[in-house]
Amino acid sequence: MKKPFERILVSAALPYANGVIHLGHLAGCYLPADIYVRYQRMQKKDILFVGGSDEHGVAITISAEKEKVTPKEIIDRYHALNKEAFERFGMSFDNYSRTSLPIHHETSKEYFLQLLEKGFLVTKEEEQFYDADARMFLPDRYVEGICPNCGYDKARGDQCDNCGKYYNQLELKEPKSLVSGKTPSVKKTKHWYFKLGDFQKKLEAYVDAHAKEWKDNVLQQTRSWLKEGLQDRAVTRDLNWGIPVPLPDAEGKVIYVWLEALLGYISSSKEWAQKIGKPEQWKKYWQSDSTRYVAFLGKDNIVFHAIVFPAELMAVGGYVLPDNIPANEFYNLEGEKFSKSRGHTIDLIDVLKRYPADWFRYTIASNLPENKDTDFYWKDFQARVNNELADILGNFVNRTVTFAWKNFEGKIPPRGKLSALDNAMIEALQKAPKEIGGLLEQFKFKDAALEMMNVARTANKYFNDSEPWKTAKNNPEQCAATLNICLQTVRSLAVLFEPLLPNTSKKIWELMNLNNTVEEEAWNSAGEMKIAEQHQIRQPEILFTKIEDAVIEEELAKLAKNNQRETGAPEKEYVPLKPQVTYDDFAKLDFRTAKIVAAEPVPKSKKLLKLQIDLGFEKRQIVAGIAEKLLPEQLLGKTIIVVANLAPAKLMGVESNGMLLATAADGENFALLTPSKEVEQGIGIK
Ligand code: 2FM
Ligand code: ZN
Repeated sequence: MKKPFERILVSAALPYANGVIHLGHLAGCYLPADIYVRYQRMQKKDILFVGGSDEHGVAITISAEKEKVTPKEIIDRYHALNKEAFERFGMSFDNYSRTSLPIHHETSKEYFLQLLEKGFLVTKEEEQFYDADARMFLPDRYVEGICPNCGYDKARGDQCDNCGKYYNQLELKEPKSLVSGKTPSVKKTKHWYFKLGDFQKKLEAYVDAHAKEWKDNVLQQTRSWLKEGLQDRAVTRDLNWGIPVPLPDAEGKVIYVWLEALLGYISSSKEWAQKIGKPEQWKKYWQSDSTRYVAFLGKDNIVFHAIVFPAELMAVGGYVLPDNIPANEFYNLEGEKFSKSRGHTIDLIDVLKRYPADWFRYTIASNLPENKDTDFYWKDFQARVNNELADILGNFVNRTVTFAWKNFEGKIPPRGKLSALDNAMIEALQKAPKEIGGLLEQFKFKDAALEMMNVARTANKYFNDSEPWKTAKNNPEQCAATLNICLQTVRSLAVLFEPLLPNTSKKIWELMNLNNTVEEEAWNSAGEMKIAEQHQIRQPEILFTKIEDAVIEEELAKLAKNNQRETGAPEKEYVPLKPQVTYDDFAKLDFRTAKIVAAEPVPKSKKLLKLQIDLGFEKRQIVAGIAEKLLPEQLLGKTIIVVANLAPAKLMGVESNGMLLATAADGENFALLTPSKEVEQGIGIK
């Protein structure tokens, strides 16, 4: 039985260091994690927040090969970029680590050996594709071939991107190694399997115990995996990039990235403990039954955190399991998925240099993909900044501070006797931390963002209804009370907004000339009126500037331009693709090589030529519409490609038994299709 929580452990998924993170990642996982952690810190909870870069796996070696650089170059580059992006965004990790560090390698090897010792690893020999030229076994993403299910010709080793089918790589038809381009051979290789199946019952009980707290999407995905029945999973790979399997008979093998990446949370915690000079301190969070562990991640990572990771931790024993996994859905850009290759993305570091991070934090939080996919729209960004941050929050702070300087020399006036309006505002403040805190505890970050802004809305209304500009003349005591409460509210807003808008809160705090920092404040103090009478505040400062239409137009134009450039900016119209066909459709056509043995014009036709062709096994006549492009004598003796099983037809009365292949273009772009070297007649084409 779990003890009451004494401390909180929070992890955020480790992004692969082979690309830059974008707003979608921030919305799916990182912003919610950071809001949660900042809030819990103000609740004075003992909390540890870890993250880092995932630096192993095939995705990284493939990127390295594409760029013709070492994997190390790739991970160094993207680790630095992502770390910078996170810092600019205001992520408050206690530690941001890397899985390529020795501390992680050691942790993972130790862990692997523990699994082995406890009997949770078994070896199996299995056949796998082997590239003799590259002298390597081919991991799934290194083989391409024809999907055994739908015939798609760029199917990957483990899964078809066209029809979605999962299969064993040996089922691929016409496999090709993406390393050498050649047909791989099949060779036996040994791998270690984690006995995930052994944990079926325990995992079911674990999920049931948390069912009430978990989000629907997380629960459903997890249960559907459990329902299928868990299988043992290979946890080693034949690869030269990763953590070597720490056994003598495992040369050339590394620990599968998904087994060790998850342990990255533990090694990041260990690194943190070393940095603070208390190397054993990580255990307090990981090896205790009074820790509440919350793992933040995007929806594509749910199975690994809800099934694989808990099973791994159960297997070695003594570790805390995730109590909650508040995964979000996807966050898209202007109605389409983020895509770096298509240029449909926003360079995070670039925009964070040009706009305050809080503007993005607010826009994203207000529209988080908590229950369904949502989008970032530049126009929404503008509206959130102008109509909410500037017109509601910024306006309230500014009018209050300006008024205090104009009428009270920038000092907090006395509160005195309170009106009904005053009491209503005080009550609203008192309720706010509990209400908003309750939403944050339940991972309802979008609702929490709305409620934070609602406090500022209420405050503006209170200012309006109190009409201090009138009471300044006819009821100075009431005016003083109003301003006292407004200034207290400004302070409360700084506390309430800190988890969401840390930089803005800091600015407000400075404006209020308070001596500690806002992060040091207790969350519940947002409900209290803590500023003493006569306290001196600073001169007003604009918190938010508005975004002009032209600025947004420019961003949209830039996005459109990127989209074009990355796709090769077609200057002319391309003929649209015809509807998809299946491999079976394609396989019905019989293409053959054939030699042209005679050629002459078709009488009275400008376009047609009559050709006699030799297929090796028979001679035929075909008619082709190429008279305007080639002279008969240019064709004689050429080996061409024809569709040999096309039903006969008559063209201008002349019989045609097949069709030659040529580009469907005029001028420069007209060309006959011919084999790249002399081959026999009658050879099939596929
Ligand atoms: O999806 C990803 O980007 C993975 N690199 C996430 C890993 S999370 C955990 F395993 F560290
Ligand atoms: Zn398929």
